[in-house]
Amino acid sequence: MNYNYHQDLNIVRVNTMQDRAYYIPCAPGDDTSSKEHNERVLLLNGIWQFTYYSSFAEASLEGVADNVLPVPSNWQMYGYDKHQYVNIDYPIPYNPPFVPKENPCGVYKRTFSVELTEEIQFYLNFEGVDSCHYVFLNGAFIGYSQVSHSTAEYDITPFLQDGENELAVMVLKWCDGTYLEAQDKFRMSGIFRDVYVLKRPQHHVRHYVVQTSIQQESATVSIRFEDTSKEISKSIKIFDTAGTPVAHVETCDDTLSLTIENPVLWNAEQPYLYQMVLDTLQERIVDTIGIRTISARGNVLLVNKQPIKLKGVNRHDSYPDTGYVASREQMVMDLQLMKQHNINAIRTSHYPNAPEFYHLCDEFGFYVIDEGDMESHGAWSSHGLRDNDWYALAHHDRQFQKAIVDRVQRLVTRDINRPSVVIWSLGNESGLGVNTLAAVDAVRKLDSSRLLHYESKNFMPEDEGKFNFDIMDVESYMYPDLEYTEKLAQECKKPLILCEFAHAMGNGPGSLTEYYDLFYRYDGFAGGFVWEWCDHAILQHDANGNAQYLYGGDFGEELHDGNFCVDGLVYPDRTPHTGLLELRNCARPVHVTREGHTFSAENKLDFADLSDAVTIVWTLEQNGTKIAEGSITDFSLAPHSKAQLPISLPHIDGSRIYLKFEYLQKAAHPLIPVGTSLGFDQFDLSTEDMSVSLPVSHSAVTAEQTKTGWLVCGEAFAYHFNSKLGTFDSCLIDGIECFSQPPEFDIYRAPTDNDMVEAGIASYSQHSWKSLRLDAAYAYTNETVVEQSNTCVTITCPLSLVADRAAPFCNIQAVYHVYGCGAVEVSMHVSVRKDLAYLPRFGMRYFLTEDFQNCTYFGYGPQESYIDKHAGCYKSMFHAAVPELFENYIYPQENGSHYATEECTLSNANTSLKVYSTKPFSFCASEYTREELAAKGHHFELQKSGCTVWNIDYAMTGVGSGSCGPYTLEQYRLTEKEFVFNYTFFPQKKS
Ligand code: GAL
Ligand code: MG
Repeated sequence: MNYNYHQDLNIVRVNTMQDRAYYIPCAPGDDTSSKEHNERVLLLNGIWQFTYYSSFAEASLEGVADNVLPVPSNWQMYGYDKHQYVNIDYPIPYNPPFVPKENPCGVYKRTFSVELTEEIQFYLNFEGVDSCHYVFLNGAFIGYSQVSHSTAEYDITPFLQDGENELAVMVLKWCDGTYLEAQDKFRMSGIFRDVYVLKRPQHHVRHYVVQTSIQQESATVSIRFEDTSKEISKSIKIFDTAGTPVAHVETCDDTLSLTIENPVLWNAEQPYLYQMVLDTLQERIVDTIGIRTISARGNVLLVNKQPIKLKGVNRHDSYPDTGYVASREQMVMDLQLMKQHNINAIRTSHYPNAPEFYHLCDEFGFYVIDEGDMESHGAWSSHGLRDNDWYALAHHDRQFQKAIVDRVQRLVTRDINRPSVVIWSLGNESGLGVNTLAAVDAVRKLDSSRLLHYESKNFMPEDEGKFNFDIMDVESYMYPDLEYTEKLAQECKKPLILCEFAHAMGNGPGSLTEYYDLFYRYDGFAGGFVWEWCDHAILQHDANGNAQYLYGGDFGEELHDGNFCVDGLVYPDRTPHTGLLELRNCARPVHVTREGHTFSAENKLDFADLSDAVTIVWTLEQNGTKIAEGSITDFSLAPHSKAQLPISLPHIDGSRIYLKFEYLQKAAHPLIPVGTSLGFDQFDLSTEDMSVSLPVSHSAVTAEQTKTGWLVCGEAFAYHFNSKLGTFDSCLIDGIECFSQPPEFDIYRAPTDNDMVEAGIASYSQHSWKSLRLDAAYAYTNETVVEQSNTCVTITCPLSLVADRAAPFCNIQAVYHVYGCGAVEVSMHVSVRKDLAYLPRFGMRYFLTEDFQNCTYFGYGPQESYIDKHAGCYKSMFHAAVPELFENYIYPQENGSHYATEECTLSNANTSLKVYSTKPFSFCASEYTREELAAKGHHFELQKSGCTVWNIDYAMTGVGSGSCGPYTLEQYRLTEKEFVFNYTFFPQKKS
């Protein structure tokens, strides 16, 4: 083919219609805005003829297609071309406007039939095609468009013939727009959103803009029309949700306003939508209107003049089985999960989503930062790896101006009537330059009713001093650490937004609570958007039909960014990650606090009275058993206010007494079943510490030297102490061995994604865990001393943890008291090498026979918990089978630990092994070793160890957010240099 628009920066489209707001018209008597069951819409989704060419130069419209492909889809999902995942860098040479000669091309063809009449105009619409497309109808060239995530509309009337018509679309993988679409995602191609023809009367409303303003007791709805011809007579009716007309105008004018008395306003908590029915002679447009304002008062972000907080996430169109294709059901599923986890805001990172998505956000109630299809910091690495001088190249280079401006114009024009869109965003990570200013102007010209966002502040050296970031309406940052975040919150002149924070990759994010605390502490802090909603991965199945997820590098790509795309709050199949449970509780609608014996609730919602939103139920537990409960159903509390809760608790004394307030969805909501838990607060009401004394036992215990150590025996047990290992290497209870191999001292963990830098996996660092050899530590013991009395044997074993080539990591004075009842009191006095900044963990690792499957613990659960990630957990007595304690991260890593555990029991049919301590510890029980987790790159490669690996940790370092954000905070790392670790290990035969 000799078309070359795709390598011409001045041509972003050919023959497309002027941009307009998204709507779907219907016939006058109809009442639909849907593409389905609408006689005015010819939906062209379905099976198309398809021919794949590895290069556009070879592509041809002639010939019979050799294959078929569904539309919408991405062709890589059907075996054509191959997947590639890159984050920042361009997957093609940085050589604009040119793209590789090997430019994969899909030729799509299908037929459709129309009945031509004088009066009907036919408009062909594409809602999303990556990266660009040439359209042909009955052999004639119709037009060209790029900007993958925007609509292209063509008037095909003159090219149609009565009856059957053949439509052909050539889609190219690369075009000059590729330089502006370097978003962090799998780079997929094809027609990935709806394709349809609209049949419209000759004279119709082409575009309209609805704006609302609010007065004391009324609202004004102003509408500006752009019609295809002058003096089209229009009837506009607005209905409330009960179907009652509340305003009506008939006009031929192109502007009008309607007044609605006592309007019900739209907000994310109460997304009230009016219906607008716009009739012209031969056509009807049904749309919804949300009456709301968005503004800033000083640095406070307001919706309808009320301060709000954005409890947001960044969302990509990414599904493991459909790629970029997001069906209504898939989008609703995402929104439902978000709603159920208290998320009220979405940034459409980093491109406009399907138009229907915004209707869903209107309907279900989300604040949206609608982002332009723009990310160009691939230029960063165009002259050497990540050279800041080149970051902003595209925004600096005037050649790109037209294309950059086009992108925001398309964004704003398409979504202008959506109340959920409260903020426009120019794009992501493209730097600042003269083109940014042009884009700002373009947005401001089209819409002044919303705020404008852009985060990227890098500029080219020659642009020094030329730009003032004040042109934006909000102050936006990504991944600042807590200290800096607080400074920003204290100093911000405009609403502060973290457009990305809490990188949710793998086991994390840590310290989410601290960020949420800051949101609430500072009025100017409007909130933030966790990066990101879902793990991106490609689904395949093994021979047994089990799901396997693939990421960057699994497709033989030369340039790729590995599993950096697997960084969401939900797994690819939308199973929540433990990080999402953490987020849910940070964003809970109510905070209960305690002052002495009274408890007060604070309504953290921005609009709803508490009595409309939630039922508060409380439960009082002792040692994990419920002893009292109650509920508070009609507790009226205005948003942002606080009041004492009317509860009277039975007074009880004792240990492990916990009171939990849980917030259950009260009102019927289409996405949140009544009774769904939206979060909780828990309080420790214990009046005493747990008694940890051993049962009184007068049974005798003996010790006898062996070749390798000491055999310690009692009535029902025989333990063997291995003097070389410094631990017991055998544990017989009633003659049955519990250990499958000797326990070990353990200071390492399988690095999490957030550990990647510190662990020395991502990049070379002198003091990484690996270079220090923390992963290779073993015990080097000194002389063992044994003392015995009638009822107790005491073994003292001084030792060090060493690794080849390294100085000892720590010295441990280990003392074991073995009592006649079988209990072993373990005591370790530990001195850590001073230069070690921190240890991933410190503790003991047992390898039990694999039949130790039942776990009972009193600690933070039920999901995994860490010192900086347990806001979504509560303390109770939990029971779980060992496999249930495992978090199956796509990229295997440390998981399943339980913070602040007071006791933990593992049992099989014969024996229970209980560990407890006066000082809470962390534990983990798993079928996998940390070595296995660290060695394997995919969940499906993991091999079970054949034993139950049980870690009892003095402490486990927190998880942080270090894969892209701040490392684990100092206070959440195991930095202590001297400490004592005591616990009791008590095996017992089951009765
Ligand atoms: C940010 C970027 C996101 C994503 C994230 C890392 O800098 O804006 O798109 O790449 O890093 O996961
Ligand atoms: Mg990026």
